[in-house]
Amino acid sequence: MTDYHALHARIRALTEGETDIVALMATLACEIHQSDDRFDWTGFYRVVAPDLLKIGPYQGGHGCLSIPFSRGVCGAAARTGQVQLVPDVDAFPGHIACASSTRSEIVLPVFGNGGRLLGVLDIDSDRPDAFTDEDATRLAAILKEVFGHV
Ligand code: SME
Repeated sequence: MTDYHALHARIRALTEGETDIVALMATLACEIHQSDDRFDWTGFYRVVAPDLLKIGPYQGGHGCLSIPFSRGVCGAAARTGQVQLVPDVDAFPGHIACASSTRSEIVLPVFGNGGRLLGVLDIDSDRPDAFTDEDATRLAAILKEVFGHV
């Protein structure tokens, strides 16, 4: 299981004073991905137009470049503003499979200053039912601290 205390402290130190969103996303994708071998793909999708997400910094195999809010787990997180915790991607209607090995997924909305939706954080695992409510809670706290003022 992820040592979220250490991960959060490391991210806090690495991002202190930084406001550039690409630099922040690249740093979090790297540190979160390397923090746990459950995480086989870790990355961001950015809001680039109303109802459209574009890939951002990520770690892992190639990811699809564009996702409308109407599609996929990422679109559901962007559309609803709610964490999507998916124990079985094959059971999620409209799941977009960037890798055939993906079995479970968690996607969190990323909110900036004033609650503006900046994008989503997507983590895929090749393990079924890999993610927990603690992952959702701890990752959301990291995202709020890092991006909440952006
Ligand atoms: N699985 C995501 C698409 C992004 S790839 O996993 C990197 C979705 O269904 O929105």
